[in-house]
Amino acid sequence: MRVGVCYYPEHWPESMWEDDARRMKALGIEQVRIAEFAWSRMEPTPGEYDWGWLDRAVDVLGAAGLKVVMCTPTATPPKWLIDRHPDILPVGADGRPRAFGSRRHYDFSSPAYFEASRRICTAVAERYGKHPAVAYWQTDNEFGCHHTVVSYSAAAVARFREWLKARYRTIEALNDAWGTVFWSMEYRGFDEIDAPVGTVTEAHPSHRLDYRRFASDEVARYNRMQVEIIRAHSPGRPVAHNFMQLFTEFDHYKVAADLDVATWDSYPLGALEEQWFAPDIKARWLRSGHPDFASFNHDVYRGMSKLPFWVMEQQPGPVNWAQWNPAPLPGMVRLWSWEAFAHGAGCVSYFRWRQAPFAQEQMHAGLNTPDNRLDVGGSEASQVAADIRTVFAANADANAAIRSKVALVYDYEAKWLFEIHPQGADFHYPRFAFEYYSALRALGLDVDVVPVDASFDGYSLVVVPPLPVVPDDFAAWLARSGAQVVLGPRTGSKTRDLRIPANLPPGALTSVLPLRVWRVESMRPNVTEAVVLEQNDAATGGFARHWRDFIESDASTSLDVRARFADGHPAYVRSGAFHYFASLFDDALTVHLFAQIARAAGLETQALGDSVRISRRGALTYVFNYGDQVHLLDHVADDAFVIGSREVAPQGVAIYRSQ
Ligand code: GAL
Repeated sequence: MRVGVCYYPEHWPESMWEDDARRMKALGIEQVRIAEFAWSRMEPTPGEYDWGWLDRAVDVLGAAGLKVVMCTPTATPPKWLIDRHPDILPVGADGRPRAFGSRRHYDFSSPAYFEASRRICTAVAERYGKHPAVAYWQTDNEFGCHHTVVSYSAAAVARFREWLKARYRTIEALNDAWGTVFWSMEYRGFDEIDAPVGTVTEAHPSHRLDYRRFASDEVARYNRMQVEIIRAHSPGRPVAHNFMQLFTEFDHYKVAADLDVATWDSYPLGALEEQWFAPDIKARWLRSGHPDFASFNHDVYRGMSKLPFWVMEQQPGPVNWAQWNPAPLPGMVRLWSWEAFAHGAGCVSYFRWRQAPFAQEQMHAGLNTPDNRLDVGGSEASQVAADIRTVFAANADANAAIRSKVALVYDYEAKWLFEIHPQGADFHYPRFAFEYYSALRALGLDVDVVPVDASFDGYSLVVVPPLPVVPDDFAAWLARSGAQVVLGPRTGSKTRDLRIPANLPPGALTSVLPLRVWRVESMRPNVTEAVVLEQNDAATGGFARHWRDFIESDASTSLDVRARFADGHPAYVRSGAFHYFASLFDDALTVHLFAQIARAAGLETQALGDSVRISRRGALTYVFNYGDQVHLLDHVADDAFVIGSREVAPQGVAIYRSQ
């Protein structure tokens, strides 16, 4: 566990660098990320590199005892490069190339950009690959930020055709898989296929889904090129990329497979403002962020990282890019940092060292104000560094791995498919995955977020948010694990080619769930349907939202109807260890059902409510208070506390020995 910072030496006079490095070190910072936007200073004119300033910056940081995370600068191709190769610019759905003048203005499929990137990455990796201060690498910056995964350029379409050829081999196979006979959309050759955009009405959904899969593969290919160059010139130094919060536009599992460290950029207040949350939720968690939002991302990225994941950028104060930008409550920067470590992070790195007084992000806080005084976030970062020393003094194994008994399946294609074919305007996959996650966390459970083809062995409970396409062997893998399995509505509802399964949903899952979804309906946001539990227990029911699957089964099957909609149709059915929800239920009912099923799985649950969260890592238990009341830990002995005490104040953190 260590803290780091993002630093831009090119933004400040060289006379400040030594003092900056000294103060970083004094604060307890151990690693510094640099250079991800510095191409125009590395190569001011084509082919003429200027490494002098960067050499000196790296030397200054290294001399202060700091480890450098060196970045490739490809998120910001310089003006001269764009002028030479305007086809580097990505093309929007409106057919217009995006302009130079901000960042991420490149097309993953542009051959000119692929070559230019190869060249600059090689130059940086050759120059710094073996520098003693350079300990890690970051490829590019936030792939896909500002809606830049999908481009509709001629280069992208040309590569898409090749991608289709490799996938379907013959045009007949493609026509058949997509069902292009519908509306006379049949193709006679791959070269007739364009990007699925600009059509009179909805473009073919299978065409759109394949375009998204293709665009995702392009990101992986581009990243892989950079990783290979870095590995060749900088052996033994881990390579990372900084992913974004709840970002789903490419398959992160595929990109992470080529990296050593999956990292992500955590901006809890900006995220709350920009995501789907209702206005009352946004107001409630205005200055703390939603108690499950950062955690969900930690668990997503922990699962795909070979080495412990990091938070590469941690919000230090107000950001500039959300519609409204509140300031975190005092204590939140520390709480967020500890929450990352509790979920397995190896590093929390703050963005940025000092607020920039110029350009786009001048309203974005740093650890220091623009006049170079320590800001609130700076003091809290130094407190975190001190806390880390305290924790390790008391517990040498604080870096222990997380052992969760609960897995939540999270899938990127599901997001694209539901976006292409929502059938109800607000059927938003990440939201539903997050709501299931949140319900599990409210029960005090630690959760691993895993891909659909994960090994489920060792888990007691597997939760599958709506997952339209399931692998053929999914049911067998789940059954073999012996876990209790919860499947959300619409699971198994489509084939890989985006068709309705021949036996109707849940398709291949009928081997374990003997049912047939013969009709579905989506529900407006202001419409709910009552749900009544069949069992005789304390809660009598709740309500259904967004969606209803209409289920039927043969009378001879073992299907157990556990809850019904008010009109008598099954809302929740069970067959052995498999539980199927025919709708998305209100939060309280979801928590209630998960608690029951978790108990059936042999797990202990707690009723934490919505503002206290608990995580376990090795011998330590971490408690976080997002609420506005003191939280009492009556059951913990005073001498078990490593950080904090039995009274966890609002925005407070407590860490105690539980074993
Ligand atoms: C991130 C990005 C940084 C900076 C930051 C501001 O998305 O990687 O470069 O823009 O947001 O919050």
